Amino acid sequence: MKKILLIPFLLFAALSMSACGSGSGEPLTPEQPEQPENPGGSDDNPDTPTPGGNGRYLVLFASRSGNTERMANEIREQLDCDILEVEPEVAYDNDYNAMLERSQEELAAIRQGNYPPVKTSVESFDDYDIVFVGYPIWYGSMATPMQTFLHTHASKLAGKRIALFATSGSSGISSSVSEARNLCPGATIIEETLLLTSSTLSQMVTRVPAWLEEIGASREEPDEPDTPDATSLKVNIMVGSRTITATMEDNAAARDFLSRLPLEVTLNDYNNTTEKIFYPDPALTTEGVTRGCAPTPGDITIYAPWGNVAIFCKSWSHSNDLIKIGHIDGDGIGTLNVGGDITVKFERQ
Ligand SMILES: Cc1cc2nc3c(=O)[nH]c(=O)nc-3n(C[C@H](O)[C@H](O)[C@H](O)COP(=O)(O)O)c2cc1C
Repeated sequence: MKKILLIPFLLFAALSMSACGSGSGEPLTPEQPEQPENPGGSDDNPDTPTPGGNGRYLVLFASRSGNTERMANEIREQLDCDILEVEPEVAYDNDYNAMLERSQEELAAIRQGNYPPVKTSVESFDDYDIVFVGYPIWYGSMATPMQTFLHTHASKLAGKRIALFATSGSSGISSSVSEARNLCPGATIIEETLLLTSSTLSQMVTRVPAWLEEIGASREEPDEPDTPDATSLKVNIMVGSRTITATMEDNAAARDFLSRLPLEVTLNDYNNTTEKIFYPDPALTTEGVTRGCAPTPGDITIYAPWGNVAIFCKSWSHSNDLIKIGHIDGDGIGTLNVGGDITVKFERQ
């Protein structure tokens, strides 16, 4: 049985070595394929990634003889991120032939839909921008523990970006990329993958950072989008391609207005461009706000009986029904002092 299973692999090894033309007699497996299992640093609690400083990325890896694990650690070091080893429920035999036999059986079982159990599970990937998934190539395929992991976590990985990396003797990565797509149909498998073979493993320290840069993964935090200052009374008013500014009053009506921003409205021309008006819906609160104003150009007011906001382009006589809620800065009112209706967008600075 063992021999039958070994023949195709040895044939494959011979073929792949001659195909890549190394001629160096380089073994298909790494230099020390019989190294003891490396626990990978997650023995205490295999389901909790070892955290890094940068929680945006998670590196998952399966590795039997340490090559893929070294790559995983290199990624982790570059990104200072979380890492977790995906381990089979039953460790692989140290006897190499027994291991080959089992891996073949497992690959055959997976083709029948029976996934060999792994002891690693992850609660949620919500915090991660990219999940890195690394594995050795076994008989042209993704190593079985990682296939099981992706299969059992497919729904949790839906919507996530997955970056694949692998090591092999000389085989390519493309079949395993298809496998990843089939195992996690809801995830986005990033086009650019990284494969290091026995002849390129030594380039790890240059190839890994170059790949990370290619896929836009870096240890730097992305720039925070400018969040408006909730305490500021300053407002931008976009009028076509121009932006004018206003300073709001520190009263309840103005704060109600500020709380509704951003707000896009059409200002209707009123009384031959004396005012530009709109009706907030619902009307702004005027409770407890001092009434009475003799508007000058640029004043932003509420006409209390009607509930409309009136921005004055021209001066007007004093009215006890007007409530001042702000003023357009400088000579910005000139931008609104044109005939007709104008669409504007108010937003907080
Ligand atoms: C069961 C098994 C199957 C393998 N099949 C292939 C293969 O099809 N093509 C190949 O190039 N290398 C093959 N290899 C070699 C490994 O992919 C390679 O040594 C890899 O770097 C091992 O990664 P690891 O140290 O993280 O376990 C195989 C190794 C094993 C143990």
